[in-house]
Amino acid sequence: MNAKEVQVYINGKTYGASEGEPLIGVARRNGIFIPSLCYEESLEPYGACRMCIVEIKNEGVKKRIVTSCTLHVFDGLSVETDSEEVLKHRKVLLELYLAQAPNSSKLKELALKYGVNRTRFRQKVRDNDPLNNSCVLCGLCVRVCSEVMGARVISFIGRGEKTRVNTPYFEQSELCLGCRACAEVCPTGAIEFRDDGGIRVAASWSNTKVELKKCNVCGKYYAPVKLDKRIDTLYYYRDKDGELRDMCPDCRRKAMTRKMTLIAENEVEKYAK
Ligand code: SF4
Ligand code: FES
Repeated sequence: MNAKEVQVYINGKTYGASEGEPLIGVARRNGIFIPSLCYEESLEPYGACRMCIVEIKNEGVKKRIVTSCTLHVFDGLSVETDSEEVLKHRKVLLELYLAQAPNSSKLKELALKYGVNRTRFRQKVRDNDPLNNSCVLCGLCVRVCSEVMGARVISFIGRGEKTRVNTPYFEQSELCLGCRACAEVCPTGAIEFRDDGGIRVAASWSNTKVELKKCNVCGKYYAPVKLDKRIDTLYYYRDKDGELRDMCPDCRRKAMTRKMTLIAENEVEKYAK
């Protein structure tokens, strides 16, 4: 059943939305910036970082600060994304995260947007931290690895102040696909991968090594072998004879263009006869 269309007010302007969708999604779709650390469209909202707070401003309703990733919109909802109260809380949160992840340039950039360039809290700096003292424990990497990729390579380790994210016992993982999905979603740029010839090294995940596949046309290494096997079935439908299977995306695109051109030329010839 299609969700009911509703109207919401963000910073005094009216926007259309589907009843029940997260407010942060409506805002982003309409070019309104709301900062976030633990929200990712492909995952269920988690509400952990509180960075995405907004203030509910509906008349007759007590003003409230809520997280916009867990706020399901309803008809007539009215919010402010940068009210005085919101900014006050957000700045304190940024200071806390700067203390937790002092080396993250992404986080520093975000903090500067709000005029925060230092923290009053004690910085937590660890020697030889595999996440370069840039992790805010938002959990996105753990969730995308398990819920989207189905790989379960990393998890939270330890408790309280000692909590960290990594592979079990900080050992290399047999399960890693080398897909880099964790690095893509990390909001602080904490996760490092490097490609070294035919090997992808997940430097942050205990230097786990994954073999890369070589293009049989240009010789470029282009995708992890394990990941390629995982998506092989997808190509199977588009490429039944397997002709494109061992090509990098560039060579595959060129080969497909050649194929399409030949088909088009044959068609033209057929009709010309
Ligand atoms: S490494 Fe990045 S994505 Fe993973 S928990 Fe830390 S900040 Fe979040
Ligand atoms: S993005 Fe909403 S609580 Fe983290």
